[in-house]
Amino acid sequence: MQRQHLVFETMCTSRSLLTWVIICYFIMGPCHCVARPKKRSCLVQDSRADCSHLSLSAVPPDLPRNITSLDMSHNRLVKIPPESLSPYPGLLYLDVSFNSITHINGSLCQILPLLHTLNMEHNEVHWLKKEDLSHCASLTWLYMASNRLKLQGEPFFALQKLKFLDVSKNKLLSAKLGSQPQLPSLVNLNLAFNDFTALKKDDFSFLTSSPYLQVLNLSSVQLKMLEPGCFEPIRNLHTLIMDGSNIGTSVISKLCSELSGTSIDTLSLRMMKLLTLSNTTFMGLQKTNLTFLDLSHNGMNKIEGGSFQWLSSLQTLILSDNNIKHLTKATFQGLKSLKKLELASALVKSHTSSTPIIDDFSFQPLGALESLILQRTAVRELTEHIFTGLTSLKELDMSWSSYTSLKTITSKTLVSLAGSPLTKLNLIGTAISQINPGSFSVLRNLTILLLDYNFVKQTLTGKEFEGLGQVQELHMTNNRQMVNLNSTSFVYMPNLRILTLGKSLIATALDLNPSPFRPLSNLTFLDLSNNNIANIRGSMLEGLVNLKVLKLQHNNLARLWKSANLGGPVLFLKGVQSLMTLQMDSNGLDEIPVEALRGLNNLSELSLSNNLLNSLTDSVFDDLNSLQVLRLQKNLITSVRPEVFKTPMNNLSLLIMDKNPFDCTCESILWFVTWLNNTNTTNVPDLREQYKCNTPLVYFNHSIMDFDTLSCKDMTPFQLLYILSTTAVMMLIVIALLVRFQGWRIQFFWNIVINRILGFSNARAEEVQEFEYDAYIIHAKEDTNWVKRRMVPLENNRCRFFWENRDAVPGMSQLQSIVENMRMSRKILFVITENLLKDPWCRRFKAHHALHQVIEASRDSVVLVFLQDVHDYKLYQSLFLRRSMLRPCCILEWPVDKERVPAFHQKLLIALGMTNRLQE
Ligand SMILES: *[C@@H]1O[C@H](CO)[C@@H](O)[C@H](O)[C@H]1NC(C)=O
Ligand SMILES: *[C@@H]1O[C@H](CO)[C@@H](O)[C@H](O)[C@H]1NC(C)=O
Ligand SMILES: *[C@@H]1O[C@H](CO)[C@@H](O)[C@H](O)[C@H]1NC(C)=O
Ligand SMILES: *[C@@H]1O[C@H](CO)[C@@H](O)[C@H](O)[C@H]1NC(C)=O
Ligand SMILES: *[C@@H]1O[C@H](CO)[C@@H](O)[C@H](O)[C@H]1NC(C)=O
Ligand SMILES: *[C@@H]1O[C@H](CO)[C@@H](O)[C@H](O)[C@H]1NC(C)=O
Ligand SMILES: *[C@@H]1O[C@H](CO)[C@@H](O)[C@H](O)[C@H]1NC(C)=O
Repeated sequence: MQRQHLVFETMCTSRSLLTWVIICYFIMGPCHCVARPKKRSCLVQDSRADCSHLSLSAVPPDLPRNITSLDMSHNRLVKIPPESLSPYPGLLYLDVSFNSITHINGSLCQILPLLHTLNMEHNEVHWLKKEDLSHCASLTWLYMASNRLKLQGEPFFALQKLKFLDVSKNKLLSAKLGSQPQLPSLVNLNLAFNDFTALKKDDFSFLTSSPYLQVLNLSSVQLKMLEPGCFEPIRNLHTLIMDGSNIGTSVISKLCSELSGTSIDTLSLRMMKLLTLSNTTFMGLQKTNLTFLDLSHNGMNKIEGGSFQWLSSLQTLILSDNNIKHLTKATFQGLKSLKKLELASALVKSHTSSTPIIDDFSFQPLGALESLILQRTAVRELTEHIFTGLTSLKELDMSWSSYTSLKTITSKTLVSLAGSPLTKLNLIGTAISQINPGSFSVLRNLTILLLDYNFVKQTLTGKEFEGLGQVQELHMTNNRQMVNLNSTSFVYMPNLRILTLGKSLIATALDLNPSPFRPLSNLTFLDLSNNNIANIRGSMLEGLVNLKVLKLQHNNLARLWKSANLGGPVLFLKGVQSLMTLQMDSNGLDEIPVEALRGLNNLSELSLSNNLLNSLTDSVFDDLNSLQVLRLQKNLITSVRPEVFKTPMNNLSLLIMDKNPFDCTCESILWFVTWLNNTNTTNVPDLREQYKCNTPLVYFNHSIMDFDTLSCKDMTPFQLLYILSTTAVMMLIVIALLVRFQGWRIQFFWNIVINRILGFSNARAEEVQEFEYDAYIIHAKEDTNWVKRRMVPLENNRCRFFWENRDAVPGMSQLQSIVENMRMSRKILFVITENLLKDPWCRRFKAHHALHQVIEASRDSVVLVFLQDVHDYKLYQSLFLRRSMLRPCCILEWPVDKERVPAFHQKLLIALGMTNRLQE
């Protein structure tokens, strides 16, 4: 952390700052540089108040009393009167950096007794006296960088708890911050960018009782003189940072000898224009336990043999970004503990210089080395013994380097690694064009082989990877699509778990049976993307039961899934039940066979963007019940129906389906819009901007979220109404037909039911008892037979008729008989035929009398039984009756149909049972 901080500081001061700003601008993108909306007042959150960048000239008095952190940086404070902070006695952290404060008031810490961190960076504090900080006993961090400090007396004396003190960039003329021992808790002291050039013997004497001091930063301090014993008071020092201080080799030697008696562990000597190292430069460090040495960015071109012989404890040596010309057997001599050696861009070829050379056995002294980074280096040749002796080497990174020897790798090229238990070999971007049989056969422990970004142009027969039985990852992407495979390509790597062949294969490389992947039962990750492959076999993935990720994007697989494909669609995904990620973007797919994705119950990510998919078959995604991520953007999808998408969208966390020509009709989009509106677990980026309707015209280019779902809901009642009314009409027709043809039957059964419950008669019992007969039958002589046959048998003990032919008392005048018996009958029943209308007796007298009786007694007592259809007009003419004068139930018709006779009887009995009282 410390180092990064320094890098940044140094860069800010140099001219490269502008370059960095520009680079940042492009990396972050212009939109990130647009200023955030300027805040108008302090932001208070979790007891922290941020009042920075508000042009304030005083501390706001109205913040919550209980804040613990106050940021007043980048304002216009010229002083901080302690009273202005008295409302916030709980402050632990106060940042007043980047103001114009000239003085620290001694009462500040009195008012803020808990203050832990005080940041005064970038102010104009000049005189600093003992009283100014005399109450700051709790202070742990004090930043005073970039002021104009002039120390008077012992200003830091009271800081018993201070751990971090930063007085960098103060133009201090001495490292001596006091004369009495003080700062007993100090851990980190930053004196960088000050103007002193000498370290005197007693400069650090004020730290004699600071046993915890570990880090001293003297970056860019142009030391010229170190008095012997200058580090004596700080013997426990672990880390010394000298970056950017151009002190020259002799002063470094001196520095090292001064460090001799210390606990120095980490030494950073970056950017010091240290062009050469001599065999005595680090001699002074011989007695130390230095484990980390950073010599990067020094433009170093020469390392004298034996330069590092003194550093037997060194574990990490960073020589990156130098200009070393030659490494010899003697260069790394003595580095017997070294574990990591970074030489990235340390050996480079320029127009003016020759290609650097690494001698045979150069690395032999590095028996403990585990990681060798030769990234971006140029070396004339990988000779037979170049890496010999690296008996602990686990990782070798030669990426982006140019070694002519790597153009064609043979069994000799890497033979110097035979004694190394190498597990990771990085040959990315090393211009390999040919790998000969047995090239890696000495790397028995190799588990990761990186060959991306090369120019390999050959058919892999398998022999190239002979001996790589332990390899678990082979990365071969971006080999210019010139690699061909055959069925045995990977037989020597049965442990392979990750295989990447993206943008490497020739288009026909996979049209093989048996499949080249057949031996790889442990394969979990297979990248075949960007290969323009058009032909694969249904058996390509057979046996890959552990395959989890399959990348097939940017190929040409559309034909394989067409239903019109000769021999049917090629279902190459069957059997890979463990698959979790499938990427098939940009394949020109316009169809997905309904069986293509069957059984993929573990699939959590499916990408099908940039295809030509339009209407998808129902249930094609129905097995994808674990889907989390679905990408379908830039297809031709018009409708999103539940039959297709309900299952896969059930538990999505990310949906990307923009830029499809959605059809915004109820049928196509209603379900989707409703789903989008209701989902609270799925992230759908750019939903408003990128999901547009294409049809119909009214919605063209509108967001699908503008689709009016209510317009679909309104149709529902209409549909219901339509259905209801249709049903009603149909039922009416049926009922009408029924009634027309079977109505009598219905009525018959109805009557039976009613009468079962209520009895035939609605006349009250007294009414019945008043009369002797239930009905007086009037009929024509011609109808006697009918009456005899049809009416008389209906009589029983509850019902009796008066029938002239039978019941007339002999001798009684007919007239009298009629009058008497009609009175004694409750009803008068006319059996109406044409004959009756002609019968004078009936026509005149009987009818008159009957009528008279009806009117007189106000009885509703006439029942008409029609044996023939008689016109109402005639009826009135002869009997002075109309059908409409009677209640409908009192008008009966003798049925032609024999079946209906019982119903007729039923009705008759009801008519006879009706009350005679006029209904109110
Ligand atoms: C600080 O005080 C405010 C009320 O003034 C209160 O809402 C808040 O919870 C307090 N915060 C803490 C950390 O006590
Ligand atoms: C340093 O190198 C010189 C020759 O350049 C040699 O004479 C001298 O002995 C070496 N010193 C050590 C300590 O290896
Ligand atoms: C390397 O592999 C060999 C066997 O081939 C084995 O004995 C040795 O322990 C391995 N080394 C490491 C560091 O894994
Ligand atoms: C697959 O991996 C397992 C261990 O995860 C191992 O035991 C097995 O031998 C491997 N299969 C093959 C064919 O190497
Ligand atoms: C839905 O997905 C989450 C992970 O995002 C998972 O934890 C949960 O079990 C899933 N629910 C169902 C019903 O599959
Ligand atoms: C989305 O849901 C809100 C309430 O959750 C509702 O008011 C709104 O009308 C809905 N919009 C659509 C397009 O369904
Ligand atoms: C999402 O909405 C459903 C109901 O629509 C509710 O049961 C569930 O708790 C919600 N989940 C979250 C994370 O808000």
